[in-house]
Amino acid sequence: MADYVSILAHFIENAKIKTVLELGVGSGRSSEEILKALPIDSYLWSIDINSCLEAKERLKSFKKKWTFFSDTDDREIDSRFIPDVDMIFIDTSHTYEHTLMELEKFSGKALHWIFLHDTISNPEVTQAIEIFLQNDIKWAWAEWKHRFGMGLLMRINP
Ligand SMILES: C[S@@+](CC[C@H](N)C(=O)[O-])C[C@H]1O[C@@H](n2cnc3c(N)ncnc32)[C@H](O)[C@@H]1O
Repeated sequence: MADYVSILAHFIENAKIKTVLELGVGSGRSSEEILKALPIDSYLWSIDINSCLEAKERLKSFKKKWTFFSDTDDREIDSRFIPDVDMIFIDTSHTYEHTLMELEKFSGKALHWIFLHDTISNPEVTQAIEIFLQNDIKWAWAEWKHRFGMGLLMRINP
């Protein structure tokens, strides 16, 4: 069964995605796969509350197409710093309140897709999606039932 980063990479390549916002970098595994999958004239913006030194070191060759807001809480960042993007990938604390806040704060930046990791291993992510969808009819919802679960919101109304 496909790993979550393979799903992201495959999707980016096939849907011809050029701009991505990533919430949660950690060791940089997902950032690396996203950066490798994105074509040359494309861009990734990432946010993490920690410094993520390992990711910065490993991914320094991608700096032409990567802006990393490290040491930055996504609850605090002024969203005017974040441009509209084709796709958002959410993979942070996985708590209900935080995930719902992220969807409410950043979904307006996503032109087409929002991926959410760990929908099975962290049921609070799914709870947040369900509440978000009750209040926002612009999105349809699908899920990959792989090991930890990967959710996908697709914008169906402008
Ligand atoms: C599961 S790890 C990310 C893994 C990464 N996406 C990957 O696939 O390799 C979760 C990350 O979310 C970050 N995080 C947690 N709360 C955050 C917040 N409020 N704002 C920004 N980042 C946060 C943590 O510091 C951690 O690095």
